[in-house]
Amino acid sequence: MMVVPVSRPQLGEAEKAFVNQALEANAISGIYGEFLERFENEFAAFCGTRYAVSCSNGTTALHLAMAAAGICEGDEVLVSTLTNMASFFAVLYLGARPVPVDIDPLTLTLDPADLARKITPRSKAVMVVHLFGHPTDMDPVNELAQANGLKVFEDCAEAHGATYKGRTVGSLGLAGGFSMFANKILTTGEGGMVTTDCPELAAKARSLKALAFGSSNKFMHEDIGYNYRMTNVQAAIGCGQMLVADRLVEKRREIGRYYSARLDAYREHLQLPIEMPWARNVIWMYHLSLRGALKGRRAEIMAALKEQGIETREGFIPYNLQKIFLERGWTREDACPVANSLAYESFYLPTGPAMTDAELDYVSTRFCAILDRLL
Ligand SMILES: Cc1ncc(COP(=O)(O)O)c(C=O)c1O
Repeated sequence: MMVVPVSRPQLGEAEKAFVNQALEANAISGIYGEFLERFENEFAAFCGTRYAVSCSNGTTALHLAMAAAGICEGDEVLVSTLTNMASFFAVLYLGARPVPVDIDPLTLTLDPADLARKITPRSKAVMVVHLFGHPTDMDPVNELAQANGLKVFEDCAEAHGATYKGRTVGSLGLAGGFSMFANKILTTGEGGMVTTDCPELAAKARSLKALAFGSSNKFMHEDIGYNYRMTNVQAAIGCGQMLVADRLVEKRREIGRYYSARLDAYREHLQLPIEMPWARNVIWMYHLSLRGALKGRRAEIMAALKEQGIETREGFIPYNLQKIFLERGWTREDACPVANSLAYESFYLPTGPAMTDAELDYVSTRFCAILDRLL
């Protein structure tokens, strides 16, 4: 029996050579070393932004971006409800108040119509989440933001290289936050990046991520800073990944096309990933929602796949269904009905740059056999 992990990174010779170079130079911290600046410059070019500021992970990237933009206690931040809760935690670290916004049922990203309904005089910002590699419909979001004085942040943790009307995510709002975790499209193991065109925001993020040391006397600090630095060793891995960035993205798109072709006959019972005409979906993970006769049978399907050696993962549970927030009285279960309808009906298949044709065929064949048995 084949064993197929839900994801694994692909690290090449360049990553190893660069890491060795960093080690040989004793440049292992987040302060010195040739790879930090190089990775930031290359990543900014990849996203089409003026600046990229490296940091320790995607959660700290979102926190830094909003802190640098001055989001603070009491501010309301509207966030797409279906996401890794890191998006919401970042808002909470600032003492700000997250407000969940429902999703579009096809792209699973923030629904501008629900955003319009949820804006109040206290709203200060909106955070879109380009989920599973599909970008958010940004024009209506930016129009609403402009009309209501909201700052726009993009959670790009799952969407490196995705585009909206030809423009790359991370360049579509005031600032973007990326994750470089091991299962992400580009990885440094753990790591993150803030992207922006705003020089003041970039400078503030750079200061805050490194304890806000003073400029004339280092130890007269300029603010209450954080230590959110990426190390030069991680950046060395990142520089290796940048050499093959386009290929890493294209491979995931190929996986998406392959699975969709194999699963096409089951569309009545499976909602497959889509690509809107204005979008380039980079298929971070091949995410499915069960419908029709398969509704309510996720645990059974995931267990059957597991028995065949195929690892899968449940889809996200929205903010408005998280016990930790319901108990505090911060949200209501019925706040986002569209997201709720998917919450316990979705999961994702193995997806990643190191997947072989044999693995893709194996997963598809076994999955189709399970579906045929159930339907
Ligand atoms: C949508 C989303 N936002 C934020 C994060 C947080 O990133 P990290 O795990 O690097 O902190 C992740 C991934 O883990 C994510 O998928």
